[in-house]
Amino acid sequence: MWSSRLAFILAATGSAVGLGNIWKFPYITGENGGGAFVVVYLLCIAMIGIPIMIAEVSLGRRGRLSPINTMKQLARADGASQNWKYLGWMGVIAAFLILSFYSVIGGWSLSYIGHAFSGEFEGAGSDKIGAIFGAMLSSPETLMIWHSVFLLIVVAILSQGIRSGLEKAVNVLMPMLFLLLLVMVGYAMSTSQFSQAVDFLFTPDFSKLTTEGVLSALGHAFFTLSLGSCAMMAYGSFLPSQVSVARTAITVSVIDTVVALLAGLAIFPLAFANGLEPSAGPGLIFQTLPIAFGQMPAGTFFATLFFSLLLIAAITSAISMLEPLIEWLEEQRGINRKVAALIAGVLVWSVGLLTVFSFNNWADLHPLSFVPVFAEKTFFDIFDYLTANIMLPLGGLFIVVYFAWFMNPDAARHEVGIKSDNVYRLTHFVMRYVSPALVLIVFLYNLL
Ligand code: PHE
Ligand code: NA
Repeated sequence: MWSSRLAFILAATGSAVGLGNIWKFPYITGENGGGAFVVVYLLCIAMIGIPIMIAEVSLGRRGRLSPINTMKQLARADGASQNWKYLGWMGVIAAFLILSFYSVIGGWSLSYIGHAFSGEFEGAGSDKIGAIFGAMLSSPETLMIWHSVFLLIVVAILSQGIRSGLEKAVNVLMPMLFLLLLVMVGYAMSTSQFSQAVDFLFTPDFSKLTTEGVLSALGHAFFTLSLGSCAMMAYGSFLPSQVSVARTAITVSVIDTVVALLAGLAIFPLAFANGLEPSAGPGLIFQTLPIAFGQMPAGTFFATLFFSLLLIAAITSAISMLEPLIEWLEEQRGINRKVAALIAGVLVWSVGLLTVFSFNNWADLHPLSFVPVFAEKTFFDIFDYLTANIMLPLGGLFIVVYFAWFMNPDAARHEVGIKSDNVYRLTHFVMRYVSPALVLIVFLYNLL
């Protein structure tokens, strides 16, 4: 078990805060036109993300097993169908697919630690920085090496068991990442494009928001809070029983959101100052931040520190993606943890190659071009869309539906830990009707 409420908050924050906040949030915000997307994203966090995190952590704590077996056991206790275990399976598969591309992007951070440390960013303009990024992306060997190193680190940590090391790492490194982001925002404030960026992020122009943009905002709320993939369920299973799940879920969600907004505030002024389009795509932070590091005092030091902290944030998230599968292999198949971590790692690595080639040799390959939503999409785009926009929201929907409709009501109330009757009634109402309805509406709208 986690040693305290704080330990759980640190672990759950470690899972939540990652590439989703610093790499993905800025570039999808840019692709979707800024302010209006941010408003919808924040609404999704508040009305859907937080209630579903409460449900997911509560289920995990009540079951106290790996997510798949937790769902089996709870369904038995509540007299519900055994098919609920497939919810656990869907989460495990979603997390597996996410890790396959997450690891490649984690590899980018690793590679950038090297570029930063060697002083390559000093005085570099957007051309040189663009060339560094382009050279990395166009070489499958380079991407493969860093993807392998990233996964090796993750597998090594997982094979040791996560509880002791993770707490300590997150304890020190997360606050450091946070401070460094503040420094970056401070630097961004010194550019004359800061107010343009604030405007871009916080002045909503709903004419720029498409139906698909709304789905991306919803999907990202799940992705960034690690919901719907059973990662939070797995972590909830170690949460001491006296801790309030509701308060904890709110704390984690607020921290995650603040980190994402800070990342946006650090990056967009630089993008504008250097003539980069906000819609530059997945390379956005790798093409903007190095320019700033190259100009600030002690930039080489700060750049190295930044990409190292980004790497650690990515690792603590990646760990939580594989933990449910490894627990299941241990629990159900009696496989030793080290072997389980290795098997899972090799499988993820292989699937990850599809993402490696999506950025070079197969950049024009659209393997599912006959499916309308996947037309024009590379393997990387497909994995990203399939997990964030479909599997995670679907998983989260079923989680909150199980919690609010099928779980024994006394047990539900007991787990959530809200004392006031009125506050609980309101929370339960939101979980029973509002969150599921909102997810369904966004889904149906996109289907039609
Ligand atoms: N929340 C993580 C991030 O923002 C990603 C993640 C998704 C982690 C799903 C676990 C499960 O980077
Ligand atoms: Na996140």
